[in-house]
Amino acid sequence: MPRGKDDRLLKGGPIYGRTPGVDTAGEENMKQRYEKNILCIGAGYVGGPTMAVIAHKCPQYRVTVVDINHEKIRQWNSDRLPVFEEGLDGIVAAARGKNLFFSTDIEKGIKESEIIFVAVNTPTKTFGAGAGMAADLQYWEKTARQIREAADSPKIVVEKCTIPVRTALAMERILTSKSSRIDFEVVSNPEFLSEGTAIGDLESPDRVLIGSRETAGGIRARREIAGIYENWVPKERIIESNIWSSELSKLVANAFLAQRISSINAVSALCEKTEADVAEVGRAIGMDSRLGSSFLKASVGFGGSCFKKDILNLVYLCKSHGLHEVADYWESVVKINEYQKERFVLNMLGSMFNTLAGKKICLFGFAFKAGTGDTRETPALYVAKRLAEERAEIVITDPKALDNAKIDLAGIDGIRYVGDPYKAAAGCDAIAVLTEWGLYAGLDYRKVYRSMVKPAFIFDGRNVLDHQGLHKIGFNVFPIGKTALVHF
Ligand SMILES: NC(=O)c1ccc[n+]([C@@H]2O[C@H](COP(=O)([O-])OP(=O)(O)OC[C@H]3O[C@@H](n4cnc5c(N)ncnc54)[C@H](O)[C@@H]3O)[C@@H](O)[C@H]2O)c1
Repeated sequence: MPRGKDDRLLKGGPIYGRTPGVDTAGEENMKQRYEKNILCIGAGYVGGPTMAVIAHKCPQYRVTVVDINHEKIRQWNSDRLPVFEEGLDGIVAAARGKNLFFSTDIEKGIKESEIIFVAVNTPTKTFGAGAGMAADLQYWEKTARQIREAADSPKIVVEKCTIPVRTALAMERILTSKSSRIDFEVVSNPEFLSEGTAIGDLESPDRVLIGSRETAGGIRARREIAGIYENWVPKERIIESNIWSSELSKLVANAFLAQRISSINAVSALCEKTEADVAEVGRAIGMDSRLGSSFLKASVGFGGSCFKKDILNLVYLCKSHGLHEVADYWESVVKINEYQKERFVLNMLGSMFNTLAGKKICLFGFAFKAGTGDTRETPALYVAKRLAEERAEIVITDPKALDNAKIDLAGIDGIRYVGDPYKAAAGCDAIAVLTEWGLYAGLDYRKVYRSMVKPAFIFDGRNVLDHQGLHKIGFNVFPIGKTALVHF
């Protein structure tokens, strides 16, 4: 496969433990001993960690993860996994080669499994009808056809990927369109994990949602899937629903989360005009038990592979059902996010005397959030591109995402990538904090200040630094949603 966005990798730490799993004759015999054979199609950020946790928690099941991307499978079978998540390497090391296998033989995997999770990518469509908004379902549909072609016994097919509501209907139609009659039950089991805390989320989820048709077969199938999770998730956290509610809940959950961020970010703009402090406002409203305190931190904007794509998918669905006002409401969540990123850049430009040309700007963080090397839809990419347009010289530092940053910014010359934040900031006019990595709050900013061009600026796009302390050192400090602290 050509190297592209979906191939962006984050190098994890080395894996120690059993030799990587490859199918052998010995394992053929062992297969009989397993209660269930589970397959997952798609070995990405969701498929890999999710199946590793299922295998780890359920030694009685044989779990195989397959992918068309041979390089990714090679990495899952190596001592450097293609996904970085705290705790993932230990879990993979414990299960791989025992009851967890990574393979490129999709057909064999389909034939041998009773339960097939589908965790392929469903990016935003970039062509044709719905371009820039609808979900691109080509990978999902190819998978459905592959299952239909290879299957020679009944299967439960589990939608793990995030898809538009009523996709299960299309899945059923494809699966049952072959003349030979094989029973398929399609079940929806959306994944709610957050990157950066994926293993904790999988081991102790707020809830597991399983939807199916309300037929005897559908209910049997969803119970079967619930039975997997019951190995480690308390029963009261496993909820069942009709299949359409389950499909829609995933899109709506992401839309609500992103809406909270856009709401507080919209308030941050008003705070900057009125000397109100967005952190104080967030704390005050978050103590209202009806609202709760999560997702009330203002920032440069949300990123990640899911929020924008899932909201746009929801917007497209609403439009295609003629619900234009509802579509506009949800689209405004994305618009505020774009506005916030641009506002951040314009604030840098305005504060640094309306020109950035030739100035050196250091980006502290490139990942879309701390705890991951994933840079999909990261606000840092937008900021870097805009700064390059303003002809600033850019230096990027990040503890986990530099490899992906280099891929994302491959077309822009002159950007420097530096692991050590002290070395990265030295000689710069400004620092922009774009990822909330804990290490940035703990740096010796006297040392950083001494090494920078004066006047020195800090734009804290995550509100993670000690603004008063930085101001005392001599920095001109520009937080989000708070009054700037300047020396002129
Ligand atoms: N990343 C997240 O945090 C997250 C969280 C919850 C849900 N989701 C959803 O889960 C789904 C997967 O997301 P991801 O981040 O794991 O994507 P990803 O791009 O990391 O992985 C998808 C994998 O599927 C593989 N693939 C595509 N077509 C295939 C085929 N026909 N056969 C075999 N493999 C195939 C790709 O090669 C890729 O490795 C998406 O629908 C996404 O919206 C993602």
